[in-house]
Amino acid sequence: MESVEKLREELLAAVEAAADLDALEQVRVSALGKKGRITDQMKGLGALDPDQRKETGQALNALKDSVADAIDGRKAAMENAALDARLAQERIDVTLPVRPEDQGAIHPISQVIDEIIAVLGDMGFRIAEGPDVEDDWHNFTALNIPADHPARQDHDTFYLPAPDGEGDADGDTGRLVLRTHTSPVQIRTMQGGEPPYRIIVPGRTYRCDYDATHSPMFHQVEGLLVDEKTHMGHLKGCLQDFLRAFFGMDDLPVRFRPSYFPFTEPSAEVDIGCTRDGGELKIGHGGDWLEILGCGMVNPNVLRNCGIDPEKYQGFAFGMGVERMAMLKYGVPDLRTFYESDLRWLRHYGFAALDMPTLTGGLNR
Ligand code: PHE
Repeated sequence: MESVEKLREELLAAVEAAADLDALEQVRVSALGKKGRITDQMKGLGALDPDQRKETGQALNALKDSVADAIDGRKAAMENAALDARLAQERIDVTLPVRPEDQGAIHPISQVIDEIIAVLGDMGFRIAEGPDVEDDWHNFTALNIPADHPARQDHDTFYLPAPDGEGDADGDTGRLVLRTHTSPVQIRTMQGGEPPYRIIVPGRTYRCDYDATHSPMFHQVEGLLVDEKTHMGHLKGCLQDFLRAFFGMDDLPVRFRPSYFPFTEPSAEVDIGCTRDGGELKIGHGGDWLEILGCGMVNPNVLRNCGIDPEKYQGFAFGMGVERMAMLKYGVPDLRTFYESDLRWLRHYGFAALDMPTLTGGLNR
């Protein structure tokens, strides 16, 4: 029989020396397994005389317990160390700024649309949308622009090719066009249920025109309000409040100048105050005026075309160019740069993605 004390020293040293969980398991098998050294010793007990058997049996049981305890302790320590190492390695500081830092920016067109929506949304207007490919009737005829109307020439319309055998050069109201303005969404809205309506329509529009101030694709935001007892005073107050909030100037001069649109009567163009200092344009007080949008009271013919009784309902409408608003507010000198996808330009003129414009959180930077 091996000396119990020697065996204890040896086995505890082996437990201590085990480098990992596998090695530790080998130590356990070699000591406590079916053919382990302690198990072997236990098997030898039967050959001893009763006194010795009792004494050695107790010593071996105590040895067995202490080796098993040592293995459990060592195992727990190894598992703790492994967990600590993993936690240290997978540590995340959730207070760090996002990575990669400052990559990507909101395009000024998107930003300005969001700003316009923030102001008009707060006044109770809801967003409506319509298709970019429109039919002649929604884009023109229903808006009181019949086939022979000179206003059709002003629009430099992109016509889609007519399917063979259908339509003629002009006057076919079923023909498809790229919408020349967002006004057809007025029609689509008024055809879809009873007034009141209070909508804004941000979207792409198209005209065959290209220079420093015109692009074949550009953006507009349309506004339409229809209700009983709506009058020109509502239109003026709404647009004056809107322009002052949008440009962040409580006393911005705003003026309404008589104009003409087939779908509004009376019609007006809205100017805001500015100064022209050589090539420099500054918005505000300065005695000069800058045209900013078109508007008017919805023409009764347009209401009738949508099945609405103009004796009961009146409305106002307005339309503005998003690029123009963006150029004026943020000092972008050339319209064409909006569509060049030049990253240096976007980093300069773009907006932080998390800075959503709101009236309460700040519209103007
Ligand atoms: N649709 C007009 C345009 O594109 C703008 C407008 C909209 C004018 C609504 C009056 C009312 O020029």
